[in-house]
Amino acid sequence: MLRIAVIGAGHWGPNLIRNFHNHQASDVTWVVDRDESRRALTRSRYPEIRVASDADRVLADPDVDAVVIATPTTTHYALASAALRAGKHVLVEKPIATRLAEAEELCALAEAGKRVLMVGHVFLFNAAIRRVKEYLDQGKLGQIFYISMVRTNLGPIRMDVNAAWDLAAHDVAIVNYWLEAIPTHAAAHGGSWINPGIEDAAFANLWYGNGIMANLHVSWLNPRKVRDITIVGEKGMLTFDDMNLSEPLRLYDKTVTDQRSPAGFIDTFASFRTSIREGDILIPRVPTNEPLRAECEHFLECIAKGARPVSDGWSGAAAVRVLSAFDRSMAGDGQKVAV
Ligand SMILES: NC(=O)c1ccc[n+]([C@@H]2O[C@H](COP(=O)([O-])OP(=O)(O)OC[C@H]3O[C@@H](n4cnc5c(N)ncnc54)[C@H](O)[C@@H]3O)[C@@H](O)[C@H]2O)c1
Repeated sequence: MLRIAVIGAGHWGPNLIRNFHNHQASDVTWVVDRDESRRALTRSRYPEIRVASDADRVLADPDVDAVVIATPTTTHYALASAALRAGKHVLVEKPIATRLAEAEELCALAEAGKRVLMVGHVFLFNAAIRRVKEYLDQGKLGQIFYISMVRTNLGPIRMDVNAAWDLAAHDVAIVNYWLEAIPTHAAAHGGSWINPGIEDAAFANLWYGNGIMANLHVSWLNPRKVRDITIVGEKGMLTFDDMNLSEPLRLYDKTVTDQRSPAGFIDTFASFRTSIREGDILIPRVPTNEPLRAECEHFLECIAKGARPVSDGWSGAAAVRVLSAFDRSMAGDGQKVAV
């Protein structure tokens, strides 16, 4: 039975508390939050869990095996670093840190202390995202041309990081995982309308080499909750709609071939259409899992087996590398920058 302390019981923390506390292989023994009202809520829901206002006391407890951090992004590095130095395994929410050097330091600390360091890139535990990875590995879509991603909603509006760090962290982690690569270049435009200097929306491009592009639109200032991805490949296309729980994926047997008549002969609608292939649309059956539950189980398994998590510290650092490039590009009025 692994004894877990959860730091941060705001909006997201209670989901982690529920999953680890209800799991047969773990027990939440401490919850830490600076806010008395969040501690009171935890006490009333879980009277058996001890609560504290300060992490130091909990990190000093030798009976705590692992620490789960769900505090605002700007606090992740300091808390994760203190937890690793205290010899605890760490699951830290995304993004792992706000600077690449800090993210890399956390990875080095975990390796030196032989502790598991995992980042809460929860979409890597989504069954549909995993299925897409299988399709890509099998070459079902052929050479990938581009991936377009939209992640919008009205709120929650953050004060410590911009919408790219908050929202695009997910999309960057997804594409890096699918392609098993990090982009070479990035460009982003952003706009801040609510709080000066904090972008509420970002419109970004990534170049992965081999001609693959990704386009991201993220915003917390949008009337519609959209979580939408389109992958366009040489042999087929695919869409992922995370709002459609029962049928998140669609595989399109649609392609545009290059076997056209010579240019001069594509002068009728019929001859133009011959270059476009419109086949069937398949809706694969994808089991509905709770991605966060799968993420928590993976963390426990990695600790038990001494294994490296799918979303390990280095994958978190790679995401930070890209998000930092977005910031640099936005500061330079959208210019293309090396990642
Ligand atoms: N994986 C996901 O899908 C997902 C979803 C939502 C949020 N998150 C991540 O979770 C983290 C928290 O987000 P949230 O929406 O719950 O934020 P929140 O502001 O609602 O909650 C954060 C909590 O941490 C507490 N806190 C702040 N600093 C602390 C400290 N030093 N010690 C102890 N407690 C402290 C605050 O009092 C607050 O209750 C963020 O990093 C966010 O990116 C991830």
